[in-house]
Amino acid sequence: MSNNLLKVYNKSTDIDNALPPVSELLDRVKYTTTRYRDLDGEEKEFDYRELADADGYPIPMPVDRENYGTVDSSAYYWVTGHCDWLNVQTAMDRHLYRRVGQPIRLLDFGCASCRFLRHPAVFGGEKYDIWGCDFAVENVNWNKRHFPPSIKTFLNNANPHLPFPDNYFDVITAFSVFTHIDQFEDAWLLELRRITQPGGLLYLTTQNDAMWNCYLESPYLLEHLKRANKVSANKIHVDEDLFRSPMPESRMVFRMSDREVYNCNVWHSNEYLRANWGRYFKIHDICDRGHNNWQSPVLLSPK
Ligand SMILES: C[S@@+](CC[C@H](N)C(=O)[O-])C[C@H]1O[C@@H](n2cnc3c(N)ncnc32)[C@H](O)[C@@H]1O
Repeated sequence: MSNNLLKVYNKSTDIDNALPPVSELLDRVKYTTTRYRDLDGEEKEFDYRELADADGYPIPMPVDRENYGTVDSSAYYWVTGHCDWLNVQTAMDRHLYRRVGQPIRLLDFGCASCRFLRHPAVFGGEKYDIWGCDFAVENVNWNKRHFPPSIKTFLNNANPHLPFPDNYFDVITAFSVFTHIDQFEDAWLLELRRITQPGGLLYLTTQNDAMWNCYLESPYLLEHLKRANKVSANKIHVDEDLFRSPMPESRMVFRMSDREVYNCNVWHSNEYLRANWGRYFKIHDICDRGHNNWQSPVLLSPK
């Protein structure tokens, strides 16, 4: 079968040239204190020097981490995963029904090279049963090469199915994944709902109303989205003016390339999330910009 039919995503990789652990990259940063936004929108600060010493796993090259940052900003790449981990722990404390005496079964859907998962693996230890999946085989290969087998990652297909029984996971996270899924959004939501236990928690990040005007603050993000203007499928022109007014539609999909999969940039208004995601889930919270200021986690439990 061709990759087309399998509908996975093929990307570049530099799997043999992983960077050293984050503790060996700290000489490239000025400070080891960092600020992040918690789930209540408060700015918090912490020093990550000692935390970094605990993580002995290599850091992926930018091409193997979805081009997040540069080699020189690799410590910051690591820190973003830690900030997500701090916020996921808060969300679990607030909304997860914990099964007594059982490890927390955690799946990171669209895990890439474990930017997030390495943190529960290092800091959560045996309290977690850790799984990740992605439809880019290069990401899965990277994880298998550079992480121990206790971090279980596998390749999934772009069609909405995952190989688990009903109610299997306690927690499912997806960082910047539903920002790239177009037609199969509902089907993926329903599949994630199927494999989450009643009382479980889903932590899915979105670009919502709170992010819309922020594109004006970020020439980098705006330039990136302007690439949509070159793709004929888009009817809405991307320019500064678009972001000066409220989001014109409650869900917006910008086609970014002619690839079959992983080809779009998706926005969800809070109104859309409540009306549509709310059909399948109880929505606990939408935490504006709680994913490293870039996106807003939506905290959900199966209905
Ligand atoms: C923007 S990246 C974010 C990566 C990672 N979640 C993080 O926060 O570092 C989106 C990731 O989702 C994956 N992805 C997108 N759609 C997917 C799907 N339907 N199934 C599995 N993985 C998907 C991509 O291959 C990519 O690794």
